[in-house]
Amino acid sequence: MGCCIGITSGKGGVGKSSICIGLGIVLAKSGYRVCLLDMDLGLKNLDVMLGLENRVFYDVLDIYEGKCSLNQALVQAKHTENLMLLAACKSIHVHKMNQNMLKDVIEELQQKFDYILLDAPAGIESGFAYTLDLADRFIVVTTLDMTALQDADRIIGILMRESSKKIQCVINRMSPKYIDKGISIQMNQALDTLCIECIGIVYEDETIIKGYNHGQPIVYNKNSKAWHCFESIKKAFLGEELAIPKYSKSLLKRIFSS
Ligand SMILES: Nc1ncnc2c1ncn2[C@@H]1O[C@H](COP(=O)(O)OP(=O)(O)OP(=O)(O)O)[C@@H](O)[C@H]1O
Ligand SMILES: [Mg+2]
Repeated sequence: MGCCIGITSGKGGVGKSSICIGLGIVLAKSGYRVCLLDMDLGLKNLDVMLGLENRVFYDVLDIYEGKCSLNQALVQAKHTENLMLLAACKSIHVHKMNQNMLKDVIEELQQKFDYILLDAPAGIESGFAYTLDLADRFIVVTTLDMTALQDADRIIGILMRESSKKIQCVINRMSPKYIDKGISIQMNQALDTLCIECIGIVYEDETIIKGYNHGQPIVYNKNSKAWHCFESIKKAFLGEELAIPKYSKSLLKRIFSS
């Protein structure tokens, strides 16, 4: 029975979809069967970031309305056999969506996949409510900006209030230079604010933006910084080792010193 992970944030644009794809790729490359489910109802992100926009024909609504089978709606990632994408609702008919539709499909997905990563929309609208109900555990994504941290903290509060499921966080767009200069919040302060387990960090990295703009995630490149970040996140996510092990001691001292 596959595990369903809700990837969420308070503030928009902090990197949920990027983290969803990055984690999905490294898990799939490790042999796990992974499905990414785009919960941004009515909007589309994951297909574009994966370079699959021309290959998405169906979504969950189509499955529910009998227009296609689950297998027909699943789109395989270009460089990874066991990484699939499913759009929750790519059309404007989001009002037709409901929790039961998603629940049925996720139950079917759980028979086929080890991990189902739900890429939630920002905030607390319907896509978030569905994610909250359907996921078995959560990853809250934030940057080291105060507004993102405060919104992440709020989401953590809601998740804790509504369920007792596991919640972990990932710090995205971390810039040692910005930390050094006192521009962004210190890691210590951020982790004190969130007060949940951090399973890793991803550096501020323009090759990440470039990769997604070209539908070719940089995480595929094993020489990239991003790949190392996501490998560490994967290990911590799987409980294999303590988070954030891959960085030099001096860097760790810099980013964690208050
Ligand atoms: N570590 C990073 N370094 C630099 N840019 C990044 C990083 N992570 C994400 N980005 C860029 O930030 C932008 C927003 O990322 P993304 O779409 O993943 O955020 P999101 O939280 O899913 O947004 P939304 O709330 O709109 O769904 C994208 O242009 C992406 O390429
Ligand atoms: Mg997104």
